[in-house]
Amino acid sequence: MVQISPDGISARPHLPACTRRALSLVTAGVLALAGVVSLAGPAEAVGTLGNAAAAKGRYFGTAVAAHHLGEAQYASTLDAQFDSVTPENEMKWDAIESTRNSFNYSSADQIVNRARSKGMKVRGHTLVWHSQLPGWVGGLGTADLRTAMNNHITQVMTHYKGKIDSWDVVNEAYQDGSSGARRSSPFQDKLGNGFIEEAFRTARAVDAGAKLCYNDYNTDGQNAKSNAVYAMVKDFKQRGVPIDCVGFQSHFNSNSPVPSDYRANLQRFADLGVDVQITELDIEGSGSSQAASYSSVVNACLAVTRCTGITVWGVTDKYSWRSSGTPLLFDGNYNKKPAYDAVLTALGGSTGGGSGSCTATYTQTATWNGGFNGQVTIKAGGSAISSWTVPVTVTSPQKVSATWNGSPTWDTSGNVMTVKPSGNGYLAAGASTSFGFTVNTNGNTSTPAVGSCTAS
Ligand code: XIL
Repeated sequence: MVQISPDGISARPHLPACTRRALSLVTAGVLALAGVVSLAGPAEAVGTLGNAAAAKGRYFGTAVAAHHLGEAQYASTLDAQFDSVTPENEMKWDAIESTRNSFNYSSADQIVNRARSKGMKVRGHTLVWHSQLPGWVGGLGTADLRTAMNNHITQVMTHYKGKIDSWDVVNEAYQDGSSGARRSSPFQDKLGNGFIEEAFRTARAVDAGAKLCYNDYNTDGQNAKSNAVYAMVKDFKQRGVPIDCVGFQSHFNSNSPVPSDYRANLQRFADLGVDVQITELDIEGSGSSQAASYSSVVNACLAVTRCTGITVWGVTDKYSWRSSGTPLLFDGNYNKKPAYDAVLTALGGSTGGGSGSCTATYTQTATWNGGFNGQVTIKAGGSAISSWTVPVTVTSPQKVSATWNGSPTWDTSGNVMTVKPSGNGYLAAGASTSFGFTVNTNGNTSTPAVGSCTAS
């Protein structure tokens, strides 16, 4: 909606958008001459990761940590962009059953209940894993361990019955390298190769409505490890062992880049009759190379009909388990990175703006012979925004000699600066911020034309 103030000219909702824009530009020009401009620009076509993925029949999720949910920007970014969550640590054995038969669901419940109240899916992560496993489990004898494993699966899945879309029933059971062998763990070492099958059978008996996944890393391309997992899944499908999906963690960096056969590998698993999911995606790097890698992962998933969704392993770089590698879609200030735009674009969404809107209002704050200071106040509309952009045009031969509280980029003419936040651009609903600049008039005292504010 375009709003012009303060002279009372209001939006014309029945005109086509292009006409409204043209009118607003004309009016803005008139008002710019009058010295006061206030424009509200709706984000053009709004796109979010969750909405764009949904339009492709997929979910787009993130790992979530319960102790960050109280941070406004964390919560608003999560809620605005994602439609699925995975508790990052809260459902692991050491978090839920650190003492035998004493179950603590409080942190995991916080994530699950919050997500469900917002209509988000939940991935359960994870029931049987060698890591983040309390010491008492490893100390058990074989029979006791079997009982403890099945009891853990039964208790946890019963608690969350009906609330979980997919469970990572077994996580990381295979070794890295060329052996294709199982990894040593209390489960493997005491219960033998059959522990995975047993875990899946127990899981199916508890909650037949949840999809049951095997999840691992370094299985993203075709290699000895993924071949071993492939053989297991094939065997399970042939023998009727209940398995519905395979999770590909997809933790990538320069030593472990997105494999060139990523799509082909997803496809060969899908061809076994299971869904495939990208479960813990993060790609270390920055800028356009990181963006390109993200894009290739999204394109691979979209090319595989049974690739049902993508989860990135965290909302913001600042809380990533690999924070120094800045592997996620939002930087430490919740600004969208090029990788975000690449993902949204690959999903077919529009990067034209975010879910909020903002207004930009110009005032002249000082004037002297040969120059003046201008100030632009940015105000968020009815919902929070994570960032904003405002173009400011000065008339040649005017020159902007300084800016503050904003980060300008210039067009080639040197007359148009596009100003973004210099740091964190987050504004709560209705909140304001401002940036300022100095103009050397060089004999021309025209008022700068402040374009519409674009929220993201
Ligand atoms: C990681 C978490 O992100 C960290 O906070 C925690 O300290 C260790 O575990 N594979 C998995 C995830 O399946 O559970 C791991 O998560 C990352 C590797």
